[in-house]
Amino acid sequence: MHIDIITCLPKLIESPFSDSILKRAQNKGLVTVNIIDLRSYSIDKHKSIDDYSFGGGAGMVMMIEPIDRCLEDLKTKRTYDDIIYMSPDGQLLTQPVANELSLKNNLILLCGHYKGVDERVREHLVTREISIGNYVLSGGELAAAVLADAVIRLVPGVLSDETSALSDSFQDNLIAPPVYTRPASYKGWDVPSVLLSGHQAKIEEWRHEKAVERTKTRRPNLLSNT
Ligand code: ADE
Repeated sequence: MHIDIITCLPKLIESPFSDSILKRAQNKGLVTVNIIDLRSYSIDKHKSIDDYSFGGGAGMVMMIEPIDRCLEDLKTKRTYDDIIYMSPDGQLLTQPVANELSLKNNLILLCGHYKGVDERVREHLVTREISIGNYVLSGGELAAAVLADAVIRLVPGVLSDETSALSDSFQDNLIAPPVYTRPASYKGWDVPSVLLSGHQAKIEEWRHEKAVERTKTRRPNLLSNT
């Protein structure tokens, strides 16, 4: 999988890809992530990428031309499955959306800033819009990092034990059950004895019960969605 992230603040998004699972995924050659500075496609010597809003009003708007030039350049190198604009009013990122995106080969994530992008970018240049939640961030970079993380960890081979992505919360409309590690007793707080029993079938049954119980109390809407 290849992901291009277009941003006017490249430094803001570099670190999540330089550590841990996302770094390993790239080192293993399973994923390539390319962060592109939109300013290198600006149309003037001041490296401008935004301008005043037609009709007035506070806040700058990201211009269509640098974005179009950048996309045209990228499209000479590969064919993209989706060009995604990160936007608070886009489709909500859920586990099924992450699963779907993890099957794609080439993605572009476009990060907005200021008042957002010229509407013509949304109408003509991107193929979809995704939001990471019903709140407004100061830019699309953190949202793009969240999306990329949720997707990359699902790419086969990225997690050392592939079943661990399958047993994540939300994968089967259930919240993951509780987990414990040593010590078995701490300050009188004991690990449920079934987990120490060595009886795998009973352990799986217990985990399923807890997952259902947890989902009922914390996210009942997941159960009604099935
Ligand atoms: N940009 C600003 N807020 C955002 C959000 N909630 N999701 C995606 N992109 C955003």
